[in-house]
Amino acid sequence: SLRTQHFVSLCDLSPGELASLLQAALVLKKERARGVRSYGATALKGQHVALLFEKPSLRTRCTFEIAVRELGGDVIAPPQDVAMGEREPIADVARNLERWVSGVVIRTFAQDRLVEFATAAPRLHVVNALTDEEHPCQALADLLTLHEQFGDLKGHTVAFVGDGNNVATSLTQGALMLGMHVRLATPAGYEFVPEMESQLRDLARHGATLEVSRDARAAVNGVSAVYTDAWTSMGQEAEAQQRRKVFAPFQVNEALMHAAGDAVFMHCLPAHRGEEATDEVMDGPASIIYDQAENRLHAQKALLMLLMGRSQ
Ligand code: CP
Ligand code: NVA
Repeated sequence: SLRTQHFVSLCDLSPGELASLLQAALVLKKERARGVRSYGATALKGQHVALLFEKPSLRTRCTFEIAVRELGGDVIAPPQDVAMGEREPIADVARNLERWVSGVVIRTFAQDRLVEFATAAPRLHVVNALTDEEHPCQALADLLTLHEQFGDLKGHTVAFVGDGNNVATSLTQGALMLGMHVRLATPAGYEFVPEMESQLRDLARHGATLEVSRDARAAVNGVSAVYTDAWTSMGQEAEAQQRRKVFAPFQVNEALMHAAGDAVFMHCLPAHRGEEATDEVMDGPASIIYDQAENRLHAQKALLMLLMGRSQ
């Protein structure tokens, strides 16, 4: 099991816990492929998990529902009109749910909303299903996918090209924790915010490095993986036109993948095809985007089992 009560950030895990979680996910994945469900099959027996989503979702929502059920638990989905912080204070929503369920998976806007919720209900297990700042469940699946491709990740390099957003942040945290090198290439003004960058630099120990630049071509040179995400994230729709202009030189297309050499291509999805990545790259031989999507399930099963599962 994990030392942390909540999973609001990838940094809630130690590097050792992260590595163990990925190993557990691999076992769960193998069993599922063989049609066997012994490991963890009753871990959440008798427990309810609430899925509280304030933004749209396909992958996160479906994979958490399946994950909870396959671990022997039950899900409930409070409706959107719960309107946390409007209809009633965030803390009251948390204190009510705490009386009924053992875990709450939350997708919301500011990370502060999630922290406020978790602080108000210390007996609950709160999981970050994406905030404006972080997307740690995505990073778990991404690291699992990279591990399947390359084995031990220490010394491998991943280039994130585009917006220094929630996905970039969590991926960078996890990659550095596992001893990877990270290169982030963004337009001016779209880097990690300074407080986050200094937190990330603290993680870059034991040989892991973080390089930040404005040059996509240089960033991808010789890397193991090229990663990109939407230029406009959920909640930023009003900036879409401006962002399309600013990010145009950061498109991942065949020329950029050629410059990378034999790197795999990664994207958390949903994609704005033809913007941050072309169809040729999304559907090309280097693309492992659907492996990432599949691994959301296995990684989150491992997370829930270790975070709130009863011992077998
Ligand atoms: N990658 C991801 O989180 O997808 P959804 O927004 O569809 O959940
Ligand atoms: N950065 C994107 C990720 C979606 C899974 C967003 O926040 O909208």
